[in-house]
Amino acid sequence: MQNKYPSDSVTVLTDLVLPGETNPLNNLFGGELLARMDRAASITARRHSRRICVTASVNHVAFNKAIPLGSVVTVEAKVSRTFSTSMEIFIDVWTEDRESGIKNKANEAIYTFVAVDEMGSPVPVPPIEPQTELEIQRFEAALRRKQLSLVLAGKMKPAEATELRALFTT
Ligand SMILES: CC(C)(COP(=O)(O)OP(=O)(O)OC[C@H]1O[C@@H](n2cnc3c(N)ncnc32)[C@H](O)[C@@H]1OP(=O)(O)O)[C@@H](O)C(=O)NCCC(=O)NCCS
Repeated sequence: MQNKYPSDSVTVLTDLVLPGETNPLNNLFGGELLARMDRAASITARRHSRRICVTASVNHVAFNKAIPLGSVVTVEAKVSRTFSTSMEIFIDVWTEDRESGIKNKANEAIYTFVAVDEMGSPVPVPPIEPQTELEIQRFEAALRRKQLSLVLAGKMKPAEATELRALFTT
């Protein structure tokens, strides 16, 4: 399969925070943000693989900054690394200052998607070739994140997570 670049499948979703989407503090409800990120990441996974894609894991979410009612929120999802049938998708979330238009990073998340056939069986995806410095950094750390996710899911023995263990032993 031919290599693809992260920019080939990047997805950018911009939307408002409306009253029905907030918590009692009038900030965006966490579950609503998770759904927006899942949607953007799912489109990216589909664009990269051109297959049906399912969410296998939410590896990491950091709700660093509250997002107030009425904010313009941009969710950007990019493939950070592919393995055999799975894709790690990195999601960055920004809000936009109303007067200056300057974007401020609010949150980030990492999801894993798997490409499947019509029967739901995993199928191979094209390799990714990172281009920018940030894409390369995220690519290089993704194997450790995959191992951590598999260990937490009980699908890998800690002893087999060689690259992850090296973080703590070197
Ligand atoms: C995701 C799913 C297809 C994986 O099926 P499976 O039988 O575990 O298949 P495999 O063990 O071959 O795993 C497939 C890939 O997913 C990866 N994977 C599975 N679970 C993972 C996890 N928790 N974290 C990271 N990667 C994971 C495997 O490492 C493998 O990657 P690779 O082929 O790139 O090396 C299957 O569990 C599924 O259909 N889950 C439901 C998905 C869904 O409905 N999502 C929406 C939630 S409502």
